[in-house]
Amino acid sequence: MVISINQIRWTIIIGLTAACVPNANAQQTNYDKSKVPKYTLPNPLVLRDGTKVEDAKTWSQKRRPEILNLFREHVYGRSPGRPKAMTSVTTLVDKEALNGKATRKEVVVYFTGRKRDPNMTILIYLPNNRPRPVPTFVGLNFSGNHAVHPDPGITLSKQWMRNRKEYGIVDNRATEASRGKSARRWPIERIVERGYALATIYYGDIDPDFHDGFKNGVHPLFYKKGQSEPADDEWGSIAAWAWGLSRALDCFETDSDIDHKRVAVMGHSRLGKTALWAGAQDERFALVISNNSGCGGAALSRRRFGETVKRINTSFPHWFCDNFKKYNDNEDQLPVDQHMLIALIAPRPVYVASAEQDRWADPRGEFLSAKGADSVYRLLGTDGLPADEMPGLSQPAMGTIAYHIRPGRHDVTNYDWERYMDFAERHLED
Ligand code: GCU
Repeated sequence: MVISINQIRWTIIIGLTAACVPNANAQQTNYDKSKVPKYTLPNPLVLRDGTKVEDAKTWSQKRRPEILNLFREHVYGRSPGRPKAMTSVTTLVDKEALNGKATRKEVVVYFTGRKRDPNMTILIYLPNNRPRPVPTFVGLNFSGNHAVHPDPGITLSKQWMRNRKEYGIVDNRATEASRGKSARRWPIERIVERGYALATIYYGDIDPDFHDGFKNGVHPLFYKKGQSEPADDEWGSIAAWAWGLSRALDCFETDSDIDHKRVAVMGHSRLGKTALWAGAQDERFALVISNNSGCGGAALSRRRFGETVKRINTSFPHWFCDNFKKYNDNEDQLPVDQHMLIALIAPRPVYVASAEQDRWADPRGEFLSAKGADSVYRLLGTDGLPADEMPGLSQPAMGTIAYHIRPGRHDVTNYDWERYMDFAERHLED
């Protein structure tokens, strides 16, 4: 093979460009707290017409619906409800999973009732040491159900996945080598030992995470005649993933193993944004957990620290609704900020967690957002977030709003899970 000088030059240029991307981003990204612009947050307890919200009734009948509508219109987009023809089938039950400690089930949900349309598989581990129905953590996963545990009984996903050699993903498909690759983030033995069930779904079952103009995934199932992509105020991928979580909850309502009144929705990173939006919209979720969710999740947009609205809309144009792009470099015009997303969850318990090195997600912005929801939680008669200042490392503040920052990087660790289970014990046990 003859390689020309030009080819070599281009390879070097492409290589250098790729290598330079993080630096180029770093230049535009503000990590200096003295450069956070002055901003004023919208008050969650003042209606758009200026009326103050002074009682729970005005909150739940006027302000909450108003804020919900603003998030639908400007941030995540509007989603459909539960399709009438949706069906689910339990395809697998093993009562002797994890050396007899758990029962493993798989439930396939056919969103339209038709097998050829997009469908999702819910993987469930139930503790065998606790009477059913059991309180349950539900969360979407990044790499397929088979990646959350090496258990060979888990069905290997056939869905599209981003190529990742170290995850055994070849030609956008999982292989046997993919099993258990993200088990580190899913301490299933500990979860069942502490008496909880875990339900998880591959997020790509609902909508593959790349921008294809919304041709795959669940969006096309709901297009009106002649429609080929969502309107400016209609759902992007985050809203679709959140919709999938609500459909899982629909199934739990008829599953006698799962206590559907005690379901905690948990997510990391983009799936933490998703957990917050699912919990904000669907009041059947009893508890909500955001792990390192950052921009468009728990972090305040107006701080423009780490990832910004413009940056996220540019890198991931399919995550939010198109209207959100109006706020690129224009955060002050947003009629909401992310503390109001957390307020929508009130008075249900919500946990916001950060990691010290995860500056891209703006830990302080995540804390301030949790704190910014405090007035609503207190109006509704709870103790809100019992911390005026950001707590130190590994010193969780736990009221009905909880917050912690732990050392380390953007990730889900055993420390995080143990705190979530402490929080669930406090709020979901009688
Ligand atoms: C990117 C993105 C974040 C997101 C994260 C993730 O870093 O910028 O907004 O939270 O991916 O989901 O892993």
